[in-house]
Amino acid sequence: MNVAAVDQASRLAKFEKKQARVGVIGLGYVGLPLALLYSRKGFSTTGFDTDPTKIEKIEAGQTYIRHIPSELIGAERAQNRFQATTEFRLLQEMDALIVCVPTPLDEHREPDLSFVRNTAETVSQHLKPGQLVVLESTTYPGTTDELLLPILERSGLHSPVMSYTTDGAAVTSPDPSGVDFLLAFSPEREDPGNKSFQTHQIPKVVGGVNGPSAQAAFTLYSQVFERAILVSSSRAAEMTKLLENIYRCVNIALVNELKVLCMRMGIDIWEVIEAAKTKPFGFTPFYPGPGLGGHCIPIDPFYLTWKAREYEFPTRFIELAGEINSAMPEHVVSTLAEALNQRRQCLKDQRILVLGIAYKKDIDDLRESPSLRIIELLSQRGAEVDYHDPYFPQLHKMRHYNYQHMSSVELSAENLGQYAAVIIATDHSSYDYSFIIRHARLVIDTRNATRNVKQDNEKIVRC
Ligand SMILES: NC(=O)c1ccc[n+]([C@@H]2O[C@H](COP(=O)([O-])OP(=O)(O)OC[C@H]3O[C@@H](n4cnc5c(N)ncnc54)[C@H](O)[C@@H]3O)[C@@H](O)[C@H]2O)c1
Repeated sequence: MNVAAVDQASRLAKFEKKQARVGVIGLGYVGLPLALLYSRKGFSTTGFDTDPTKIEKIEAGQTYIRHIPSELIGAERAQNRFQATTEFRLLQEMDALIVCVPTPLDEHREPDLSFVRNTAETVSQHLKPGQLVVLESTTYPGTTDELLLPILERSGLHSPVMSYTTDGAAVTSPDPSGVDFLLAFSPEREDPGNKSFQTHQIPKVVGGVNGPSAQAAFTLYSQVFERAILVSSSRAAEMTKLLENIYRCVNIALVNELKVLCMRMGIDIWEVIEAAKTKPFGFTPFYPGPGLGGHCIPIDPFYLTWKAREYEFPTRFIELAGEINSAMPEHVVSTLAEALNQRRQCLKDQRILVLGIAYKKDIDDLRESPSLRIIELLSQRGAEVDYHDPYFPQLHKMRHYNYQHMSSVELSAENLGQYAAVIIATDHSSYDYSFIIRHARLVIDTRNATRNVKQDNEKIVRC
């Protein structure tokens, strides 16, 4: 039985009437808000995760992601539209499955697709004719049709790769012959903590492995997102996400490099960016910092670098940007050492306080945070390091770092004065920068967080 037999038209109608059951696999920073969105828009939604603690929390109406309130989960649970489970056999009851599992790098900084592969194997055991599967995890072009598709086809069902054309919202001549299930890619563009855009307001790019798949995925996403954009293949959709993140990575590297040069030349890079951004066209501001953090920008570009090797193509911009950005924590520590030197002090045995462990302001995510590397570098140079972060009362064991013994110190006047220097690594909005500068002996500001503080400027080094 193929999709033609189960009737694409009735499937699309089911999506449009919100009668389809939607399963979201992987309930992390991306999957949980997405599942809640489908539920809020009226779809019967089931979240699947291998982590039972997350399922227990959801079932109890509790959140585990700071910017997603428990009330939101509770409200959807109360409507009986949202449930969460570790029972993967329930996958077969879904009309659409959206995959939001991690795509990290392995220890050789190569793509680790084990989560995607494991999920695909599980889905293939439960796949039913006519089901739509959409991958949202960020990955290199080709993952959906080269890796996911063959695993799903072990089910005995098929979805042959076929080209199709798009005309605005329409997929022209979708050929349903031989298509048993539907497979598409739609990149996740979630920006945790960004209050300007809610999930449904961020346009959704969609590409299928064939016309019917593209059409089905486009129709489903159009029900919950303000705008869906069709592209001509799953590969184009995969590449779109990488272009967006590589664009950020390269531009941040450019401005980080110029920051280091500006410091030598005695020019304030922040002032320069403010002036440059008054140009009404042709310039988008990016800001320097202590290095890249988060699950996306430091990692995703290297998915493309890896894939490009197959085509004997060196991705020089990506490599160079990676080199510059990953040198930033060293730059911060060197700037601190130099500032102490000016005060006839050396870094060894000094007490240093790092403010902010999250990789960016106002969020509870420390993945790839440059603060972790800064702490490591400071410790290697013999400093005694403490940290403060309102979002992380305690640190835990991580893949590359073991800071289990560390907990956030109190940010009192007395405490601040005990450190030889305070490094502002993350510019959380809750920090009182005037207070910090008043009581600290030396402040290394990596985020221009102290720009509005008028007093004690001789204590501040911006880098
Ligand atoms: N976090 C972001 O801001 C962001 C933004 C855009 C894109 N992305 C991409 O989205 C994807 C997911 O990222 P995230 O930040 O949500 O990750 P996350 O680590 O927060 O969540 C992933 C979830 O998947 C679960 N999981 C792992 N293996 C599973 C399996 N086999 N079956 C079911 N569940 C499984 C984990 O338990 C976890 O709850 C990644 O590819 C990431 O690059 C993330």
